[in-house]
Amino acid sequence: MKAVILIGGPQKGTRFRPLSLEIPKPLFPVGGQPMIEHHIEACIQVPEMREIILIGYFNNCEPLRRFLQLAKKKYNVPIRYLQEYESLGTGGGLYHFRDHILSGSAPDCFFVMNCDVCCDFPLKEMLKFRQEKASNATITILGTEANRKQALNYGCIVEDTDTHEVLHYVEKPETFVSNVINTGVYIFSPKVFDCMREVFEANYALSLEETCKRDSIRLEQDVLMKLSGSRTGQVFVYKTNCFWSQIKTASSTIYANRLYLGKFQRDCPDLLESSSEPNILGDVRIHETAEVDPTAKLGPNVYIGAGVKVGAGARVKESIVLDGAVLDEHCCILHSIIGWNSKVGQWARVEGSPCDPNPNDPLAQIASDSVFNEDGRLNPAITILGKDVTVSNEMIILNSIVLPHKELSYSYKNQIIL
Ligand code: GTP
Repeated sequence: MKAVILIGGPQKGTRFRPLSLEIPKPLFPVGGQPMIEHHIEACIQVPEMREIILIGYFNNCEPLRRFLQLAKKKYNVPIRYLQEYESLGTGGGLYHFRDHILSGSAPDCFFVMNCDVCCDFPLKEMLKFRQEKASNATITILGTEANRKQALNYGCIVEDTDTHEVLHYVEKPETFVSNVINTGVYIFSPKVFDCMREVFEANYALSLEETCKRDSIRLEQDVLMKLSGSRTGQVFVYKTNCFWSQIKTASSTIYANRLYLGKFQRDCPDLLESSSEPNILGDVRIHETAEVDPTAKLGPNVYIGAGVKVGAGARVKESIVLDGAVLDEHCCILHSIIGWNSKVGQWARVEGSPCDPNPNDPLAQIASDSVFNEDGRLNPAITILGKDVTVSNEMIILNSIVLPHKELSYSYKNQIIL
């Protein structure tokens, strides 16, 4: 087996700024480890996983190089980064590097995963489904359900409920088509490259001027939509009830952080603080180099990064505190991301608004709204302090986004501080 993870490039992750200004979005820590490390951990559980390939267009990216070096050692599996010369879309990179993907003992099939999803990744179950029900499929999509309204924000799948063949696929339809949605996790057979070749040749026939536009292939519109619906048994869907969410906005990171910490609580609780500690509530992960005063109260759903200092009486809830940050005595951090090396003064309060999916709707997904509403105002969301921000003692920062290297000596509410 092989697996390919699509990691995008520097122009992606715009809804994730200012955090993606400091670090490539796929490396942002969720549940205490880089977003794509969860994908890698899922891949290595699959028997005979020979190679994991990351395809993206980050150029000369030192943090990515360092991550790959560490991950290769830690997981003892070849992990290779293949760089597109420019953004080639979700399918273009796969086609461009098809020889690498099929090299060695050519895989009978391979996984493809979007990096910006958080999931319990039922890869073995998907493989079993493919073997038993869809052995000739060109593409097997991992699907999940969303409610009628939110389904419009995703790729929607109409299936034959007996065979699970995909009869119709539409990317972000304008009106309701189906509430089964594409999670961005697939198993491809090498036959997929035949379809991509047709798209590629059609692009060239149009004689588009820019090479990258000619080489660009959109997996969803150009391949999935084309192969579905012909009743030729090419595309199948395996539906899962496992947790799944997209990670598009910084707010969705707080939600994804919670989902992954919950998974650790079930599968490897040793990674988390013991809930018998009086000052730990629910799922909390603390990096071994962080210093937390025993009177600080943390949780639920908190990650404290490397070298962080948390002072006496501080309170942190539903938040991610990134490496090197300092939380002074009695400060309060709720629904927020505190940037690398930022400092929150004594009795200061940094608070955002939760953006969780509606708890009364089992099919609700996290809203993928843009940062601004129609009037150009900031939608209430989590508070983000960029890298190296200082909040003075006793200030209150509410529902705001603070760009790196700011010193805040006033209180702010619903603002972007540039
Ligand atoms: P949006 O809602 O518009 O963001 O669309 P989407 O959810 O379909 O996501 P999108 O197509 O932008 O990205 C899906 C995945 O593919 C993400 O993991 C991206 O990082 C990745 N991706 C997107 N464009 C490219 C590309 O040009 N090259 C590579 N290698 N990956 C890409």
